[in-house]
Amino acid sequence: MTYQQLMGLANGYAESKTLLVANELGVFTAIGTGGRSAEQLAASCGTTREGMRLLLQALAGLGLLRLKTERYWNTPLGRRFLDGASPLAITNLLWLLNHHWMDWSGMTKAIRRGSPGWAPLTKTANFQRRFALAMQERSHMLAHPTIDTFRLPRQAERFLDLGGGAGSYAIALARRYPTLQGLVVDQSVTVAKRLIRQERLADRLHVQEGDLLSIPLPTDMDVVLLSNVLHDFNERDSQRLLRRAKKALRRGGKLLIVEYFLTQDQTSPAEAAVFSLLMYGFTGTGRCYSWNEAEAWLTEAGFGRCRRHKVTGSIGTMEATKL
Ligand SMILES: C[S@@+](CC[C@H](N)C(=O)[O-])C[C@H]1O[C@@H](n2cnc3c(N)ncnc32)[C@H](O)[C@@H]1O
Repeated sequence: MTYQQLMGLANGYAESKTLLVANELGVFTAIGTGGRSAEQLAASCGTTREGMRLLLQALAGLGLLRLKTERYWNTPLGRRFLDGASPLAITNLLWLLNHHWMDWSGMTKAIRRGSPGWAPLTKTANFQRRFALAMQERSHMLAHPTIDTFRLPRQAERFLDLGGGAGSYAIALARRYPTLQGLVVDQSVTVAKRLIRQERLADRLHVQEGDLLSIPLPTDMDVVLLSNVLHDFNERDSQRLLRRAKKALRRGGKLLIVEYFLTQDQTSPAEAAVFSLLMYGFTGTGRCYSWNEAEAWLTEAGFGRCRRHKVTGSIGTMEATKL
């Protein structure tokens, strides 16, 4: 790493925060498809004129807005992803990243004294709703390439999505395999229920609210999906979850795990190692695991034929068959 890169990394939060603050104030959505002056935006976002003017100049400097004849316009990227009216908007995902600012602010203390764990705020219905929406927005880009790595058992009919969140992966699976029936289990299923109805899949996808570690699960499943769930749990509970998944499967059924998997020394990919630290601060119970750790637990739980696939540089899938 060069000195310039080091300084870029040290100051990266300032640029990131400029984007996240603008999202929080609703600037991109207020601009929408038209051009707006700083005064108009200050009025519609409820800010001071001076503060808004400086924010808009910073956003234009970063290439996140365009300035033409004293009016600010969204870029094509902004219209697609930052304007809340776009079907591909990631405004809730950016809200979640802004929320993680608090987790990072408490990180020094968490590392010194131990993580305080899940903040009471994360248990509220509003947090869980926005979190589920954030997960759904994140899956816009990820669900299909992820599902492309799966090889379902022949004639698969029934699947269980444990910690399915907004149901994005269940919906993508049901769309890809038109005869598949699925059950999404999560501590909060309000958003999943609405999205499944919107997608007209309520005849094939069902939801159940409950705790993954204690709720009775169905049996004889062809497929169990654990997508971005293990990093919420400690080692002991992750292994418990894998054993519960095995019990829910028929012999020959497949467990499909989607995760930020780490290499054996747990240092790369860097994005996964950094996300693992964030999970320590955010959840207090979880972290990311290495491919080898997950595979050893699967073997121990009675799975075999483990296969690893890469989805992105830091996200992968692991499939395992119940022997
Ligand atoms: C990171 S999200 C992943 C959501 C979805 N599977 C995806 O990949 O987009 C983790 C999900 O696990 C759920 N979850 C975590 N711990 C849980 C528990 N003990 N019981 C039920 N659900 C839980 C959360 O509510 C959340 O929806």
